[in-house]
Amino acid sequence: MKVTLTTQKREKPDFAKLGFGRYFTDHMLVMEYNDGAWQEPEIIPYNDFRLSPATTVLHYGQGIFDGLKAYKNAEGKITLFRPYDNFNRINNSARRLCMPPIDVNKMVECLKELIRIDADWIPTAPGTSLYIRPTMIGADPQLGVHPAHHYLFYIILSPVGSYYAGGLKPTKIMVEEQYVRAPIGGTGEAKCMGNYAASLLAGELANKKGYDQVLWLDGKEHKYVEEVGSMNMFFVMDGVVRTPALVGSILPGITRDSVIKVCKKAGIPVEECRISEDEVLEALERGTLSEAFGSGTAAVISPVGVLHAKGRDHIINNNEMGKITSFLYDKITGIQYGRLPDEFGWIVKVN
Ligand code: COI
Repeated sequence: MKVTLTTQKREKPDFAKLGFGRYFTDHMLVMEYNDGAWQEPEIIPYNDFRLSPATTVLHYGQGIFDGLKAYKNAEGKITLFRPYDNFNRINNSARRLCMPPIDVNKMVECLKELIRIDADWIPTAPGTSLYIRPTMIGADPQLGVHPAHHYLFYIILSPVGSYYAGGLKPTKIMVEEQYVRAPIGGTGEAKCMGNYAASLLAGELANKKGYDQVLWLDGKEHKYVEEVGSMNMFFVMDGVVRTPALVGSILPGITRDSVIKVCKKAGIPVEECRISEDEVLEALERGTLSEAFGSGTAAVISPVGVLHAKGRDHIINNNEMGKITSFLYDKITGIQYGRLPDEFGWIVKVN
């Protein structure tokens, strides 16, 4: 792989005040798809792109991305969490949007090289990490609705703190009763750009009412809970950890899958199933819904303290992080940061 190092290092931000997705490292990886094949990837200094105003992605949204993280421990050892799963998911998203697949093993090796070059950008304070954003866009400089012939794949790196400003403070979520995110057969299970654009209006309206996010209902009956857009959802009901089944409209989260596997190994009953809004509300009324939390690469494990549904706020677990949520947070972040043994083979060494 060709590597061109920057001659002008960027100024580092205050690592104690990172927030999410505001700063980018010195280098990026780029790879072009021309004449029916991916060309050799290159590492270059982080820079703006020059794109034709007619570029496919800017008009027809032929664009996908993913998100994963690298961690550095106190001894300077750098690791990635489940990168093969993320790159496989990129290929699933690519297939849905008629985009060419990438070579997963090769890309993980190229990513490791990029991270080694920008290793001094990985924050080490608790709760911080290096967020990795692989992206693929249709890049024909031409109008007309059809799959592009040229593509651009790139990876940028961003040192991050927690996704939600409140950190581990339980979030307030509102069930979205008017708009839908994705119907079955749509693009809901692909990590494509349009899904996020489609979620903005409902999110803004919810924010104005004082809620952090919306909980989407299914696109057909408006009856079953699905996901939160930035997180998959889990409800602890009658002692069982339940999450909406992957019916085709929900993103197959890697952290979601990690939660399920950790629960199974720890002997915590866990179930993937259809969960209706009514069932959630009944469990809240009966006092059998003890915890709710979201999972995601950016969000990690995020407790939900308030669920607004059918005109009123329902407080969950006294608006505090519950026992199972804490256990899963400690276990998954423990494996990610190398504090706990990796019983699942999820960690990939970078150096
Ligand atoms: C992630 O969790 O990595 C995502 O891409 C979600 C996004 C809202 C930041």
